[in-house]
Amino acid sequence: MTRRRRLSSLVVLLPLVPLLAACASDAPQDTMNPQGPISRSIDNLFNGVFLVAAFVFVVVEFGTLYLVIRFRRRKDDDNDELPAQTHGNTKLEIAWTIVPAVMLAVVGFFTLITLFDINRRDEDALTVQVTGQQWWWEFTYDTNGDGKFNDEDVLTGSDLVIPAGQDVNLKIHSNDVIHSFWIPALNGKKDAVPGREHPLRLNADEPGTYVGQCTEFCGLSHGYMRQRVIALEPDEFDSWLEHQTEKASEPTDGEAAAGAELFATQCSGCHLARGINDDQFAEQGNGTELLVSGNAPDLTHFASRGVFAGGILDLWVDQDGDGIVEHDEIGGEFDRGNVEAWLRDPPAEKPMDAPALPDPGGDKIRGMPDLNLTEEQIDQLVDFLQTMD
Ligand code: CUA
Repeated sequence: MTRRRRLSSLVVLLPLVPLLAACASDAPQDTMNPQGPISRSIDNLFNGVFLVAAFVFVVVEFGTLYLVIRFRRRKDDDNDELPAQTHGNTKLEIAWTIVPAVMLAVVGFFTLITLFDINRRDEDALTVQVTGQQWWWEFTYDTNGDGKFNDEDVLTGSDLVIPAGQDVNLKIHSNDVIHSFWIPALNGKKDAVPGREHPLRLNADEPGTYVGQCTEFCGLSHGYMRQRVIALEPDEFDSWLEHQTEKASEPTDGEAAAGAELFATQCSGCHLARGINDDQFAEQGNGTELLVSGNAPDLTHFASRGVFAGGILDLWVDQDGDGIVEHDEIGGEFDRGNVEAWLRDPPAEKPMDAPALPDPGGDKIRGMPDLNLTEEQIDQLVDFLQTMD
């Protein structure tokens, strides 16, 4: 094969790479595998528009090819004169103005219907505030239904738990820079912008775990900012939410008790564990507001989550090996090694800005600093964290 032929076959084959990648099976972030009514509505629109576009493509390409071949210059044609030149055909011009206009009007009509459909909101549905943080997602459930999101509500991180088959209204905003929330199986993307509140509705047909990731570049660990939606049967969801409103109970003996003490000195400047350090902060006059509107996850029910550290590390062993820690695997085999590695040196697990150094002109620390804990302290803290289910 000559070099030129090799090069041209490469040019022909290269576009096939993304095409083949699109055929991957078991791709959890497949945008063409809707698993709820909202994403299905978007998918239906896409399929319709794609069919129209494919039809236009085939007609135009084959028409062009036909004309090129049919009217090509033939070998025995030695007439050097141009054929008779014509200009303008009113009927054709009217036709190719009207036909595309009608096609676009049809596409526009169905687009509008889809837009109205996906923007519909049931104000009585469960409302969750979604907060983008560098680099993890915080979820605040309006548990008492007062329309406010504050320290009286349930807070969780990385895993958004919802009831299956029901609408959930999200109010998306950011605590620092612009992020973007995206669970492809359930809906499109929505930017998380500081100072703004963007609505998004989620609805999953079936119980399951649906994964996504931040899709707006938001700094050093943008690529390490994931989110998951865990949909549960409605009654299972109710008991989950009920459990999340409970406070943690402080362990009284063993390594876990030592871990709780360490938590108070090492971690409670940023993390909240209700029932353990919420009183302490009220006494110090800081209140808990600083913490819950702060930059670190509420750890009260840490061990009830499937993942941690912005969704990049599994908290429980993925028993069936499908790459996703599902709800029924939470509470199974604790992935101690991951929690230890994180406490040993968080910035080594996830690139973060200037460990332990405040921003110039601000009081925010990006990500979790290396606390220089000893192995014994790490052991105690992990024991303590495991009790917070
Ligand atoms: Cu958050 Cu990218």
